[in-house]
Amino acid sequence: MSSHSKAVIQHFFDSETWTYTYVVYEDLGSPCVIIDSVLNYDPKSGRTKTKSADEVIAFVKSKKLQTTWILETHAHADHLTAAPYLQSQLGGKIVIGDHITNVQTVFKGVFGLDERFDTRGAQFDYLLKDGESLSFGNLSLKALYVPGHTPACMAYEIGDAIFVGDTLFMPDVGTARCDFPGGNANMLYQSVQKILAYPPETKLYMCHDYPPASREAHYMSTVGEEKKHNIHVHDGITEEQFVQMRTARDKTLEMPTLILPSIQVNIRAGHFPEPDANGISYLKIPLNAL
Ligand SMILES: [Fe+2]
Repeated sequence: MSSHSKAVIQHFFDSETWTYTYVVYEDLGSPCVIIDSVLNYDPKSGRTKTKSADEVIAFVKSKKLQTTWILETHAHADHLTAAPYLQSQLGGKIVIGDHITNVQTVFKGVFGLDERFDTRGAQFDYLLKDGESLSFGNLSLKALYVPGHTPACMAYEIGDAIFVGDTLFMPDVGTARCDFPGGNANMLYQSVQKILAYPPETKLYMCHDYPPASREAHYMSTVGEEKKHNIHVHDGITEEQFVQMRTARDKTLEMPTLILPSIQVNIRAGHFPEPDANGISYLKIPLNAL
């Protein structure tokens, strides 16, 4: 683990999409990173709102933090990222894993995007490679490549914490689906093993929780708890068993409500498509493609 400075981790919950956003910092006035933000989107009206991001901004300002890196664990399919809005209010650089270029290439096809859509990741300020570290103040963050849910997923390790993105969920919820274009259940199993190889006390910070009616949403688990209790990947589950379960289960799942708007915006690092001559940005709906 990279640093002996202690990271303070503040979570925020977007109740419309069950998403956790994190601000990680050391102290009042220190540099911070923001992981997986949410831009609220109403699919009925096509209108965006900044309520969730504004909570994050108010916190960052109240602690006088300097935003260094605005990170995505992956191109989310269930919510739009607020990264460009956060950047406009707080500064910082927008970062994602370098395999985002694969995701951009796949969805350039799905959405029939023309040559103006750059599939080299240029919409982002920085692309992280597996194992690469970024520093912010006395703290540092290490990227762990964990593909499977998407081909570009990253987890981020800071001290004794790992922000797992959509790999593992809380033990009673299991793991992320692998049936989006470019997803792969074998790869997710291997990625989960990479996370579960950390010491049992390692804290795992969820990107989502989808709690059953019997409990509240939680944002944190540990390697030990997941190894013991995760319904999909507890100790003893083989890759073959996992892939069989995951594939069968994914066939029963509907597409997320916001997949079409989310992907189109998130592969552009959160920027809207270039507006038409009338100044309005439009999203596309590919018929019978997903
Ligand atoms: Fe996701």
